[in-house]
Amino acid sequence: MSREFSLAVVAGDGIGPEVTAEALKVLDAVTAGSPVSIRTTEYALGAGRYIETGDVLTDEDLAALTGHDAILLGAVGGVPGDPRLAAANIERGLLLRLRFSLDHYANVRPTRVYPGVASPLADAGDVDFVVVREGTEGPYVGNGGTIRQGTPHEVANELSVNTAYGVERVVRYAFETATRRRNRLTWVHKTNVLTNAGALWRRIVDAVSAEYPGVAVDYLHVDAATIFLVTDPARFDVIVTDNLFGDILTDLAGAISGGIGLAASGNINPDGAFPSMFEPVHGSAPDIAGQQKADPTASILSLALMLDHLGLADEAKRVTDAVTTDIARRQGAPRTTSQIGDAIAALVSDPA
Ligand code: NAI
Ligand code: MG
Repeated sequence: MSREFSLAVVAGDGIGPEVTAEALKVLDAVTAGSPVSIRTTEYALGAGRYIETGDVLTDEDLAALTGHDAILLGAVGGVPGDPRLAAANIERGLLLRLRFSLDHYANVRPTRVYPGVASPLADAGDVDFVVVREGTEGPYVGNGGTIRQGTPHEVANELSVNTAYGVERVVRYAFETATRRRNRLTWVHKTNVLTNAGALWRRIVDAVSAEYPGVAVDYLHVDAATIFLVTDPARFDVIVTDNLFGDILTDLAGAISGGIGLAASGNINPDGAFPSMFEPVHGSAPDIAGQQKADPTASILSLALMLDHLGLADEAKRVTDAVTTDIARRQGAPRTTSQIGDAIAALVSDPA
């Protein structure tokens, strides 16, 4: 049976277009000769577009993106300090706006220490976990304000918003994720100090866990979680946490995995009401842009997350297997961005 999907591609700025080109190369390889066809539509969004037109993300852009099955994003952001971008906030205006508008309530970042990759941890062990970060609530909703700004009596408030609805849906998604992995879930908060939100999270985790008797659940305070992510990261399978803690823990997770060029992420709307968006964790890397020095692996692994989300588990596995093989073979002279993409695409076509 043929299956058709429509994909929005936002290559973005800096190395974004370079790494995205390689992900699309791998997409071609994995769908070649198969009944799956993925039509791509490119959207020119990001710092370059803002400099040209003054727009970050118009209502028309948002409506057009909403019509696709998924979004693949490279990276957005200009050269830090560029005066033409002084008034723009691409992060809030584009990435956060997309996450909130498209209800990306599960921000998912898998972390593996691939065989052959040097982690900054001397003895990382067999690290393979995924962080599920709540993406639409917490202190990132912009609920706050400031008065008497710039005076000695300035007041600045940032309210953390936690709803039973919002917590339950992400917790449920994390339990589902655990059942497809090693059936272990660690929820992370700071219940001893943030007692109101913490109690809500605890009651919901307890209630949902009753429906998943096969999943072993434990709890860590966020500060303890940072310790174990460094001293014993192999203990984790699925971690679920709120927006702020998740932001910080996922950067730490990316660091132990041994390379910003390897860290992939999905901004997921599990209900399928809106397209989910898949992107490497890294930014536009203006320092190496245009030089074919960027590692496209994170973008290719983001593509694999996307394929899995679209229900194309076999295709996703072929891509991650090809990446694993390629990483294990990495040594010697550095390769260009497109050489890495070529090698992974070739392994997808012929895994031998
Ligand atoms: P960055 O992630 O772009 O770069 C940090 C360092 O990592 C640089 O030295 C860069 O060369 C290196 N690096 C990044 N990706 C790499 C790759 N694939 N292969 C090899 N090396 C890689 O972070 P930075 O410099 O803080 O931000 C640059 C721009 O990107 C800014 O405008 C920032 O706002 C934006 N940004 C965008 C993000 C997104 O689109 N989701 C996320 C983070 C930053
Ligand atoms: Mg971050």
